Amino acid sequence: MAAQSMDQLVSLCKRRGFVFLGSEIYGGLQGTYDYGPLGVELKNNLRQAWWRSNVYERDDVEGLDASILGHQLIYKYSGHANTFSDLMVDCRQCKSRWRADHVVGGKCERCGSKDLTEPRPFNMMFKTQIGPVVTDDESSLSYLRPETAQGIFVNFKNVCDSLSPQLPFGIAQVGKAFRNEITPRNFIFRVREFEQMEIEFFVEPGKDGFWFDYWVNERVSWWVKQGLSKENLKCFEQPKNELAHYSKATVDILYKFPHGFEELEGVANRTDFDLGSHSKAQKELNIQAKVVENKDSLAKLAVLKLQTNEWIVPFVIEPSAGLDRGILAILNEAYHEETLENGSKRIVLKFKPHLAPIKVAVIPLARNNEELMSKAKQLRKDIQKLGIGRIVFEATGNIGKSYRRNDEVGTPICITVDFDTLTEGSDLKDTVTIRDRDTMKQIRMPIAKLADYLREYFASP
Ligand code: GAP
Repeated sequence: MAAQSMDQLVSLCKRRGFVFLGSEIYGGLQGTYDYGPLGVELKNNLRQAWWRSNVYERDDVEGLDASILGHQLIYKYSGHANTFSDLMVDCRQCKSRWRADHVVGGKCERCGSKDLTEPRPFNMMFKTQIGPVVTDDESSLSYLRPETAQGIFVNFKNVCDSLSPQLPFGIAQVGKAFRNEITPRNFIFRVREFEQMEIEFFVEPGKDGFWFDYWVNERVSWWVKQGLSKENLKCFEQPKNELAHYSKATVDILYKFPHGFEELEGVANRTDFDLGSHSKAQKELNIQAKVVENKDSLAKLAVLKLQTNEWIVPFVIEPSAGLDRGILAILNEAYHEETLENGSKRIVLKFKPHLAPIKVAVIPLARNNEELMSKAKQLRKDIQKLGIGRIVFEATGNIGKSYRRNDEVGTPICITVDFDTLTEGSDLKDTVTIRDRDTMKQIRMPIAKLADYLREYFASP
């Protein structure tokens, strides 16, 4: 099961502190969203899961964290300054602006008029000014990156010089990207500030076809491991006339969001377009002369193949996923509404354990008993030290209510400390109740065994 509508998700996200509209108390800033206390945990967990699989668990990928502000020449030579545009139309009646391909039936979405201007390109990069002096020319112009990828290409030589990798190898990066979307929409699906999780995987030309297929399969299986069901995912090969300016082939991995099947991640064969173009720029601008003495090596964004002693400008396969779209997909997939035996309804987020924002809630059976409260508080602290993620203490005094609240935010395990836990001479002394979110089954377990149990339960998938 999944959410029936986007509204269900938006409402749960606001109510329980996952995602809020950006700048809300000033009326909201369109295309921006803020992650609340639970949203930030979920986002951290998904980001970490991606990093773990793509950097720690591989021998051929290294990480990078490049700056968001980029030299204007990066985006001139990457092609973004000229070509990173969407077609836009204006409604002559109500003066609203739309992305041309979003205007269904040739009518303005706001007023229904068909009196629209001809489509014209609108560059989606956010410009900014570097330094305190505002100049009339464009010398202080800089851009907020529209993709994290360029930070990887312009650091290619730095990484090669420091690690001397042999092909194939990848550089991974997670971070913010900014696009002045003409019509942001569908909650966190299309926003103006978002996070990308990107790998630029450098391969020998001629082997790019193999690695392209490899990464498409790899990425689909990864999303399945994060809890997305296979039937809600499909691959779509972009037609040649719709490819980005840098791409020879792109497969979009689509997910069935509440508003329909749309792109969650793209895998592109960027050939040697970017390295080639930045190399050409180095020569054209003669930048290397200012930076280092060895002119040739800086100009060459290439790898020396040891067996043949030849310089190779690698092709690059790029799996590029949206973290925010990932969060929306995970929330959608996890959302379940169930009718219980007593007829009441429960909303439960069935996250995979490693993604759950709260891993364990420790609950004292009553809140008016000092001993019970302090035993539960101490237990929370001890479990927190295991390093499995966020553990909370929750004393509502109403155990049923606590379970429902935790179901709704996807806490996989609730641990209840009751009077038996404290009773000297009882068989149940120093044992607690463990309640499973999905089955709602409860078992009794000695506190001494909890650490091993929880470590295994929350181990990476
Ligand atoms: N470096 C390649 C690149 O940026 P893209 O298909 O334009 O390719 C990659 O973007 C991913 O970034 C998309 O699949 C999507 O998940 C995410 N993304 C792109 N634009 C977005 C937006 N406006 N809001 C949220 N996520 C976005």
